[in-house]
Amino acid sequence: MGKWRGRRGVLITFEGVEGSGKSTQCARLAKLLREAGYRVLETREPGGTPLAERIRDIFLASTVGAKIAEPMRPECEALLVCACRSQHVAHVIEPALREGVVVLCDRFVDSTLAYQGYGRALDLTALRSLNRFATDGLMPDLTLLFDVPVRIGLARRRRERDTELNRLDRETHRFHERVRRGFLELARTAPRRIKVLDGTPDPAMVAARVAALVTKFLSKSRKVDRSPSLKVRKSSRLRSEF
Ligand code: TMP
Repeated sequence: MGKWRGRRGVLITFEGVEGSGKSTQCARLAKLLREAGYRVLETREPGGTPLAERIRDIFLASTVGAKIAEPMRPECEALLVCACRSQHVAHVIEPALREGVVVLCDRFVDSTLAYQGYGRALDLTALRSLNRFATDGLMPDLTLLFDVPVRIGLARRRRERDTELNRLDRETHRFHERVRRGFLELARTAPRRIKVLDGTPDPAMVAARVAALVTKFLSKSRKVDRSPSLKVRKSSRLRSEF
């Protein structure tokens, strides 16, 4: 944990149930911040590195392998997402934070607590230590939780993805309700870090709220590097991390 204290960048995570609009908001915020002169890295979980993206495919596939339909245990889910996270933090997030970049991450540690903890009923304490093991104690500076009723979120998701619903999308309504309640419970226990936003209005309206909140947050945290001269030189170093 001490290792993260001197970091110059900022880690902002986006969380919510399926169809909450978080990915759209992440992309909109990235554009806005870049226009304002910030160096921004957009990334996602599970995934964010070549290896982690391959694990993501396995994690989200409805069947494992072409011919075997092997049910995935919740414990296996937790280990796979944390395996991705470990690669992602070490190879992408940590180098970016060291360079003073604003890292926008679509899902992070709270998704594991909400999905595998509240959704799958795995022990929260065990999941928290697994998260710490994967991240070396890194926690987001700010988390935006986009809250929508499950019925609305799943309907949006079906419209977006049509026949391409993944293994988690296909879970029961009750599962997604537990996940939503879990996210809200996490926000209640960490109100300074996790900000709940209503994800039901028009995306432009939600984006305006996100912009106001993040602008205020960044103006308070002066550690972010906005110097345009650092942009090219340091972002090319970031790309060479693989
Ligand atoms: P998304 O990219 O559409 O948000 O899909 C990622 C899926 O992975 C989503 O259903 C939530 C799930 N997930 C977990 O179950 N645990 C995790 O720790 C993470 C990061 C994602």
